[in-house]
Amino acid sequence: MNKYIRWIKLGLFVLCLVPVAGLAWLYYNTTHGLEPDLGANPLEYLTHGTGTWTINFIMLTLCITPARKLLGMPWLIQMRKMLGLFAFFYGCLHFTCWLWFDKQFIWSDMGADILKRKFVTAGMVALALMLPLALTSTTWAIRKMGGKRWQALHRLIYVTGIAAVIHYIWLVKADLKAPLQYAAIVAVLLGYRVFEWARKRSAASANRPAPQAG
Ligand code: HEM
Repeated sequence: MNKYIRWIKLGLFVLCLVPVAGLAWLYYNTTHGLEPDLGANPLEYLTHGTGTWTINFIMLTLCITPARKLLGMPWLIQMRKMLGLFAFFYGCLHFTCWLWFDKQFIWSDMGADILKRKFVTAGMVALALMLPLALTSTTWAIRKMGGKRWQALHRLIYVTGIAAVIHYIWLVKADLKAPLQYAAIVAVLLGYRVFEWARKRSAASANRPAPQAG
C-alpha cells in the first residue's frame, strides 16, 4: 500500500479542492450572468457553503481514527492531517465571508457580534481551537512536543466538533434536522473513543500482576 500513498494523497488533495472550486465557478457565473449561479442571495450562499464544508471536513477528520481501526486500514492515518488542514482552510474562508459580507471588515462590529450572538461565539471557539492544531501539524512540532503531549493537544478536535455542532444548532431558526445529524455523528465518534479508552484501561489492569501476599 505504501507505494500508492503519494497518489492517494494527491487524489485526496484534488478532491478536497472541489468544493472551493465549485463555489468559485458559481461566483464567476453569477458575476458574468451565466447559469448555474449562486442564486438570489449569493453572499448567503457563500457563507453557508463554506460553513457546511468546514463542518464536513471536521467530521471526516474525526472519522479517520475509528475507520482505520475498524476497517484495518492503518495507512488512513496519513490522510488525517490533510483533512484537518482543509477543515481549517474552509473555516478561514467561512470566517472571511462573515467578516467581509456581514461586518464589512469593521473590527468593532465584529467584536460586538462575537459577544452578542451566541452562535457566533461558538463558531469563534470552534475556529480558534483549530488554530493550535494547524500550527502544530508539522513533523517538527510532533518531535518538539513529544508524541504524548501532541496527541493530548490534538484531542481538541473533539471539542472543535462539539463547538461546531453547537454553533449550527444555535444558528438555525426552525429545522434542527441537519445540525442534529452532525450532533449524532460527533456523539457516536466520541462514544467510540471513550469505549476504546475504557477497554484499554481494563485490559491494562487485567494484565497487571496481582500484589504478592506478605
Ligand atoms: C469551525 C468553525 C465553524 C463551523 C464548522 C461553522 C459551520 C457553519 C454551518 C454548518 C453553517 C450553516 C450552513 C447552512 O445553513 O447551510 C454556518 C453558518 C454561519 N456561520 Fe459558521 N461555522 C464556523 C465558524 C464560524 C465563525 C468563526 C463565524 C463568525 C465569526 C461563523 C459565522 C456564521 C454565520 C454568520 C452563518 C450564517 C448564519 C445565518 O444564515 O443565519 N461561523 N456555519
